[in-house]
Amino acid sequence: MEIRRVGVVGLGTMGAGIAQLCVQAGFETIGREVSEELAARGRSTIEHYLGRAVEKERMSASDRDAALGLLTTTISLEDLSACDVVIEAIVEELDAKRELFGELDRIVAAEAILATNTSALSVAEIAAATSRPERVVGLHFFNPAPVLPLVEVVRTELTDPGAHDAAYEFAGRLGKVPIRCNDTPGFVVNRILIPVLNDCVRVLDEARVTPEDLDTAMEQGTRWPIGPCALIDLIGIDVHVHASEALWHALGEPRMAPPERLLAMAEAGHLGRKTGRGFYTYGR
Ligand SMILES: NC(=O)c1ccc[n+]([C@@H]2O[C@H](COP(=O)([O-])OP(=O)(O)OC[C@H]3O[C@@H](n4cnc5c(N)ncnc54)[C@H](O)[C@@H]3O)[C@@H](O)[C@H]2O)c1
Repeated sequence: MEIRRVGVVGLGTMGAGIAQLCVQAGFETIGREVSEELAARGRSTIEHYLGRAVEKERMSASDRDAALGLLTTTISLEDLSACDVVIEAIVEELDAKRELFGELDRIVAAEAILATNTSALSVAEIAAATSRPERVVGLHFFNPAPVLPLVEVVRTELTDPGAHDAAYEFAGRLGKVPIRCNDTPGFVVNRILIPVLNDCVRVLDEARVTPEDLDTAMEQGTRWPIGPCALIDLIGIDVHVHASEALWHALGEPRMAPPERLLAMAEAGHLGRKTGRGFYTYGR
């Protein structure tokens, strides 16, 4: 099966980055949002980052123009009917994703691959809303999608090996480093990283260490490229708490439950870099 045309549903943080990767890799790409305004915002995000790549001489102006020429946006899901792959990157809510996959199932060709970028939901439960669970995979990109190389290519019990291989190859054509894994809670990276980061936050209080010293400890003592507090600020306290709750709910290990300190920060609206305040403060 040759992949030529890609649909991306949701052009927020992840979807805009994924659509950018697709057009940079030469795929005709159509992004769907819920309003013209959000569709335009998604497009301008992509224009902004491609513009920066030109300024930094990482891309030529003609390559940028060619990439942007491959991008269209729409608010009509029917416009995705000719896509060979559709990647969903909407809100992390099972009902919303299941409803969307049910609609996509009716709209796109039977052999097309439907992929979800979910971090914490079951791919199988999303796939069950379609009549083609064998063509449904997880394509889990990391934030920021254009920068972080890894993509977890997730198979459910029902995923056809050919569809899984095609999704793996597609991720490679986007310039990413794909790995194959099963549809288990947190897949690979989050299953490991989230409880470790929660341990780090608990150590802050247990060892009476400052965020700065904890980050220094992990950077200098283990060569982590970024300290745990700076990393949680980057991920977003709310995003991390949400992912912790999902893992805690799915696997029941106490380490996975979000630490009180993070819940208090989320409650206070100190969500990390995006709000200018988390473990650290950031100029806005
Ligand atoms: N942010 C991260 O760090 C991260 C990392 C990996 C995976 N994810 C996953 O990616 C998905 C998207 O996350 P995000 O951070 O980009 O969220 P976001 O809130 O930034 O973007 C979601 C976008 O989807 C749009 N949307 C909602 N319903 C829609 C629909 N039916 N059709 C079209 N557009 C719709 C919204 O208008 C919004 O612009 C989630 O499943 C999330 O768990 C997020």
